[in-house]
Amino acid sequence: MLDLDLISTSLPGKPCDGCAKERLLETLHQFAESLGEAIDAKDPCTRFHSEQVAQVSSAIARDMGLSDHDVRMIHIAGHLHDIGKIGIPDAILKKTNFLTNVEWEHIRTHPEIGAVIVRPVEAFSAPGGVADIILHHHELYDGTGYPYGLSGSDIPLGARIISVADALSARMQHRPYRQGARFEVAVREIIHCSGTHYDPVVVSAFGEAVDRHGQRILTG
Ligand SMILES: [Fe+2]
Ligand SMILES: [Fe+2]
Repeated sequence: MLDLDLISTSLPGKPCDGCAKERLLETLHQFAESLGEAIDAKDPCTRFHSEQVAQVSSAIARDMGLSDHDVRMIHIAGHLHDIGKIGIPDAILKKTNFLTNVEWEHIRTHPEIGAVIVRPVEAFSAPGGVADIILHHHELYDGTGYPYGLSGSDIPLGARIISVADALSARMQHRPYRQGARFEVAVREIIHCSGTHYDPVVVSAFGEAVDRHGQRILTG
């Protein structure tokens, strides 16, 4: 995944200053984790969601054989993927009955808001990097997602991975109006949508990671 490799060249510091780069990446990761916690704290139903998406995404990325650096950036994007919800009124986010079309339109702006929030961070702004992953995490493989209706490999690989991890965690969440699915059911539903909603290569790696880790894939 060459596009994410660009991130390392955009990090500040001397080219061979590996320790400083490592410390910077770990600090960015910790900060992403705390921002993810802040978003999840807005709603008791989404507790652990960003952490779960970060863990599942990095497990998939690792199974796909991506570099350690790319796995790490995808993990960070998992923590931050819903950061744009900070710009959506709580009255809409926490609404327990059906959302109107206008309210849905509002919610569907969160990927763009999130990308705008993180893009000032130089290490997140490379093509295909964290900001682009956040921007495209609700695109679907068959082009029926949002915000741009991208399809196939036009969707950044990191976003195709987050999309699967997000679906697993979201499907298992209990909501006031519906019971969350059991882990096995949520996994089956994702595999069923391979090639339509989700990239088949990503789903195949997801299946292998689930076989190996079981439900522990959610906690790392
Ligand atoms: Fe993390
Ligand atoms: Fe989202």
